[in-house]
Parts: sequence; C-alpha cells; structure tokens
Amino acid sequence: MIIPSLLAYDGVMLGDTLSQLEACGIKRLHIDIMDGHFVPNLSFGPHTVRALRKHSSMHLDCHLMVQEPEKWVDIFFQAGADSVTVHIEVVPKNLIGRPHLNLAIRPRTPIQSLEPYKNSVSEVLLMSVEPGFGGQAFLPATSERIMQLHALQGSFEIVIDGGMTPATMPLCVGAQHFVVGSALFRAPSLHEGLCAFKRS
Ligand code: DX5
Ligand code: ZN
Repeated sequence: MIIPSLLAYDGVMLGDTLSQLEACGIKRLHIDIMDGHFVPNLSFGPHTVRALRKHSSMHLDCHLMVQEPEKWVDIFFQAGADSVTVHIEVVPKNLIGRPHLNLAIRPRTPIQSLEPYKNSVSEVLLMSVEPGFGGQAFLPATSERIMQLHALQGSFEIVIDGGMTPATMPLCVGAQHFVVGSALFRAPSLHEGLCAFKRS
C-alpha cells in the first residue's frame, strides 16, 4: 500500500488535496508531527489532525517525531488519529502494547531494540532517511534492515518511510507499505505519481 505523507503537500490546498487523494483510492494518510527537539524541524499539530478528521474518513496515522511521546499520544487520538506511531528511542516501555500504537525506528538504532516488542505492535515504521525532512535520499542500508526485521519473526507488518520513489521501492523487498511524500506531491498530478509507483 502507498501511504501519502502530508508533509510534502501544497499547504494552501488541503481540501483539494484530500479530495484528489480520495478520488485516487487512497485509504490512509501519514501525518508527520515534529517538535524541533527529537528532530530539527516543526510540522503539524493536533489542530491539523482535527481538521483532517472533520473532512475525511481516511485512516489517519500520526508519526510522532517528538520527545516524551507519552504526553502527546492521547492528544492525537482525541484529535482523531486512527493510529499513532511513536519512536522506540524515546517511548516509555509501559506505553508499548496499547491498541493502535505502532513503533518507528531511526536509521541508526539497532533493529534488535525491537525484539522485546515484536508481538506487541501491528506495524513497525522503518525510517529510510534521518527523520525531520521530506525530500531526502533513500538510505541503501534499509534493504538489509528489512531482512533483520524479518529475522525477528514478529507479528508486525513493515512500513518504510523516507526517500521512496519508483526506483527505490524495489529495494524494499519484504516491506508491506510505503510512505511517500515528495515523489507523489511533486509529480505532475497525484494520479500520475501513484501510477508511477504501481508500474515499479
Ligand atoms: C521524514 C518523514 C517522512 C517524510 C517522507 O521525517 O517522517 O514521512 O514526509 O517524505 P519523502 O517521501 O519526501 O522522503
Ligand atoms: Zn513520517
């Protein structure tokens, strides 16, 4: 499944963007939440999620790139998130296992750190760029890290986030879902951007 990342959308045209995504059959959106500490950037907050919830029935997944995610998880669920993804590097262990809470992992964090939780989450979001910015180049070590995730033999699906293009997607054999920002929103149209992925 291709999961568009809203970070790359044209900020003025949110309504139009939503309708176009829905018309293209998109069922799920990825919303990057940044706090300027865990990553050196800022992005959306609960206000945007509430607005999206009002106008769309798509599955909204909030990717929390924030310190102390435990302070924010409930706020984003209340704002209308269907799932919330938090980073293994900062999440308090007692939060893991909550329904609809998934784990993300930065490119340099050992995959082994997920071992204790391999049957406690339904998805692992494997970062294929350093989190913080869209439009970065895919890190080739991701392919090997997907294999390491498989070796854990957990019950989760693998989502890849960062640098996905029709050329890098084939390097992610073994992953089920792909978060795509720039490659979709910089295409001549969302429809054409999606078609390029389907062909690859
Ligand atoms: C990066 C974000 C990604 C980003 C992906 O920190 O987590 O979701 O939006 O954007 P692209 O596809 O442009 O790499
Ligand atoms: Zn993301």
